[in-house]
Amino acid sequence: MLQIKSKQRVIDHGEVFTSEREVNAMLDLVKQETDRIESRFLEPACGTGNFLIEVLRRKLDVVENRYKKSKLEYERYAVLAVSSLYGVDILEDNVIHCRKRLFDYFNERYTKLYGTECSDECRASVRFILSKNILWGDALTMKTVCGKKDPIVFAEWSAVNGSMIKRRDYSLARLLADDFGLQGSLFSDLGEQAFIPEPIKEFPLMHFLRLTDDE
Ligand SMILES: C[S@@+](CC[C@H](N)C(=O)[O-])C[C@H]1O[C@@H](n2cnc3c(N)ncnc32)[C@H](O)[C@@H]1O
Repeated sequence: MLQIKSKQRVIDHGEVFTSEREVNAMLDLVKQETDRIESRFLEPACGTGNFLIEVLRRKLDVVENRYKKSKLEYERYAVLAVSSLYGVDILEDNVIHCRKRLFDYFNERYTKLYGTECSDECRASVRFILSKNILWGDALTMKTVCGKKDPIVFAEWSAVNGSMIKRRDYSLARLLADDFGLQGSLFSDLGEQAFIPEPIKEFPLMHFLRLTDDE
């Protein structure tokens, strides 16, 4: 991929993309996590998702190696892998590009494995999750860019009893404030400060092939 789209975008938004070689060198530093299906990654100025696509590739390799014999198991874990990836970008075209790139990559691998057996429900779930996880926003103000400039809200997806998913929504500003120790004070079992953030919304359990915004 080209490192820049235009000089003006570099001037206006510092848009210079990271090369695949550098992305991989950096991800290798946390290889244990990139190979863990449920380990969550946020790319806060994601552009077209150069880091996220590589994390997805690594996670889908693990899913494929472990679960490809069962389509249902593959689908569960592939959806979980996608649900662990988060991105924000200030340019809408980058957000659309990033979502599509991640979806197309998932779909290419899924279709290659199961062909006509693939389910459109599974594709719809992946699309739905990407629409919640890759957001058009300003990572500095932690607000959305369009309309009322609401706080950026991310959905946390957790697998429950195999095929069910629990969704809890959190405000990014609150999550980061907690992470940097600006709220409350508890201690983790490693002796470090740790915080349990409060969700701003919880959803009933949903089947992973029937994800929706409905309560
Ligand atoms: C240096 S590029 C990096 C893109 C990608 N992470 C990569 O490594 O290839 C910076 C990206 O940040 C975006 N950006 C600039 N200011 C931002 C802000 N305040 N919030 C979110 N994204 C921003 C730009 O649109 C651009 O896509």
